[in-house]
This record gives sequence, structure tokens and C-alpha cells, in this order.
Amino acid sequence: MKKATIIYWSGTGNTEMMANAVAEGVKSVGNDVDVVRVEDTNKDMVINSQLLAFGCPSMGMEVLEEESMEPFIESLSDVDFSGKTIALFGSYDWGDGEWMRNWVERMKEYGANLVNEEGLTIHLTPDDEGIDDCKALGEQLAKA
Ligand SMILES: Cc1cc2nc3c(=O)[nH]c(=O)nc-3n(C[C@H](O)[C@H](O)[C@H](O)COP(=O)(O)O)c2cc1C
Repeated sequence: MKKATIIYWSGTGNTEMMANAVAEGVKSVGNDVDVVRVEDTNKDMVINSQLLAFGCPSMGMEVLEEESMEPFIESLSDVDFSGKTIALFGSYDWGDGEWMRNWVERMKEYGANLVNEEGLTIHLTPDDEGIDDCKALGEQLAKA
């Protein structure tokens, strides 16, 4: 049974709700999970985990949040992602998901195997259906 690690940034709580629902999904199939804010994590958590989910809303102009998440993701460019399975998720508002498309491509370039090739994007605060989508993503990750 592999433990999953969920690392996220959230300014107003929408992506945090997503992170907690992904965690519920992981737990629902019996796996352990750590859910941590990016500000409280470090690269070793990524190196030591085989199942990972990363969450960040669209910020700036269709980019990752720039103070914490962007430098953290950049720091992972030399991590060996072979043997790791990851999921990406995040909330957005007015954009068309460009930040997520770029993020997916970037993680693929890092060598990561994604369970959700499109990333899970939710408009602003997740509704019940959105929460269910997050839980389903957590289950998918746990079973990977
Ligand atoms: C400074 C700032 C920049 C943003 N830039 C974008 C953007 O480029 N595209 C977009 O779709 N939404 C953008 N948003 C909207 C956020 O992605 C949206 O409010 C999201 O729900 C925030 O998630 P959070 O509650 O996890 O912080 C921006 C919001 C802020 C505060």
C-alpha cells in the first residue's frame, strides 16, 4: 500500500478544498496520505513519495503562484520521476486553463507519469460534483 503526498498552494481556499477532497479519495481506498501546503514542504517529500498530487490555482497571467509554488516546481526539475505517478489539480476563474496545459507539459518533460493527462481544473469553489471529481482523482491516484 503506497502512501500518497498531496502538496498544494491556495490563496482563498478553493484549491485547498480540492486538496482535501483528493485526500479523502485516497483514504477511501485505504491508502495513507499526507496533505501539506507547499510552504511547509520540501523536495525530499517528493523524492521519497511514489504517489503525488500537486495543486495550484491559475495565478498571475495563467501561471503558477509565483512566490512559493513556481520555485518549488522549478526545484523539482532534476528529480527522477520515473516510478512516480502524479496528479495535477487547481482552481481558476476567467482563463481557459492555459496554466494547467503548460503545467501538464512541464511535468511530462520532468518524466512524470500523470494519472490525469489534462489536469483537474475547477471553476472557483468546487461544488458537490467538483468535490466528487476530486475524490475520484484521489482514488485513481491511490490505485495507480
Ligand atoms: C492575483 C491573481 C491572479 C489570477 N490570475 C488568474 C488567471 O490568470 N487565470 C484564471 O483563470 N484565474 C486567475 N485568477 C483566479 C484564481 O485562479 C481563482 O480565484 C482561484 O479560485 C483561486 O484559488 P484559491 O482559492 O485556491 O487561491 C487569479 C486570481 C488572483 C488573486
